[in-house]
Amino acid sequence: MNRLRDILSKKTLRYMFTGGKGGVGKTVVAAGLAYYFASSGEKTLLASLNPVHSLSSLFAQDLTGGVIKRVEGVENLYAIEVEIDDIVERYKENIARRLKEFLKWADIPLDPKPFIEIATTNPAFQESAMFDKMMDIVLQEAQNFDRIVFDTAAVANAVRLIGLSKIYGLWLARMIKSRKEALSLRVQLSFRKEKVMEEIKKDPLMADLISMNEKFSKVRKILTNSEETAFFFVTLPLSLPIAVVKRFINMVRAYDIPVGGVVVNQIIERKLGEAEDATAYIKNKYREQLHYMEIIERDLGSLVVAYLPMYPREVVGVEMVAKLAEDLLEYKPDFLEELRVEA
Ligand SMILES: Nc1ncnc2c1ncn2[C@@H]1O[C@H](COP(=O)(O)OP(=O)(O)O)[C@@H](O)[C@H]1O
Ligand SMILES: [Mg+2]
Repeated sequence: MNRLRDILSKKTLRYMFTGGKGGVGKTVVAAGLAYYFASSGEKTLLASLNPVHSLSSLFAQDLTGGVIKRVEGVENLYAIEVEIDDIVERYKENIARRLKEFLKWADIPLDPKPFIEIATTNPAFQESAMFDKMMDIVLQEAQNFDRIVFDTAAVANAVRLIGLSKIYGLWLARMIKSRKEALSLRVQLSFRKEKVMEEIKKDPLMADLISMNEKFSKVRKILTNSEETAFFFVTLPLSLPIAVVKRFINMVRAYDIPVGGVVVNQIIERKLGEAEDATAYIKNKYREQLHYMEIIERDLGSLVVAYLPMYPREVVGVEMVAKLAEDLLEYKPDFLEELRVEA
């Protein structure tokens, strides 16, 4: 038994994310968490928000199409591979429409096309579109599911956007204030008696900004609440993935985002690494791993909530996900007690 079980048993915990360097096992850990909840009888959604999805190949079934599908062979488990291209396209159309509306409303005789190009070819555009979709899932699917696990490689970006949304809110409050001042003058001059805020909301761009800000602050409230949300970080016992997790943890803390814990993946067991017939390669890898395990215990020890062994093959199919979910809750490396860790 490990600390992860305690964390996951909290019923208020509704949203989970997995972050870490590419290839460390974010997707398999997200799937393992989702499997655990589903098999405990809780209706669970596993949502992939990646440019390239891997849920279909992981579960060895067709989960494509951008819609929520049942995962065959696991009761209570549902999955979606969000189609990024569709979302980006819709997002683009949306922005174009808003911009045109605004230019018309403000009576500015400008061709909106160059503005739309600038806004939508920005490299952050795809990530903002993703973030927007993630917010929709948080807000709209909460009634339909007990737990939602996100598989997104762009956790760093999500974290930054959550942080940014706070600044954005402050900035917007200023905008509204200055708009109020400017508007009330106009309202006065034209002897109209409408309420100032109503007047402000007639500006389509302001109305959009205000409603977007409401959405942002709702989601920010949820995702920065440690009762409801947890970010899990996955690492391997290797130097680069560890460095990435450390950086993540500092960043996440700076933004008040709750850390669920660290999962150490792909551990070579001692009985393999010290077996007499082990190859020189495995023996070396094992020794190298012990060194990094000591670093993990020293630097992240209090945050480590689970370990996973290195499996003899890729994690594919419901059965292996089930095994991984069990290991997430139960597995402990056979050499753990012997690590030399200086306090
Ligand atoms: N403990 C493990 N043992 C064996 N293979 C693993 C293990 N964890 C992950 N893998 C494999 O490593 C690859 C990368 O894992 P994945 O979860 O897709 O990483 P990420 O989502 O972080 O890019 C996949 O092929 C997966 O099956
Ligand atoms: Mg992945």
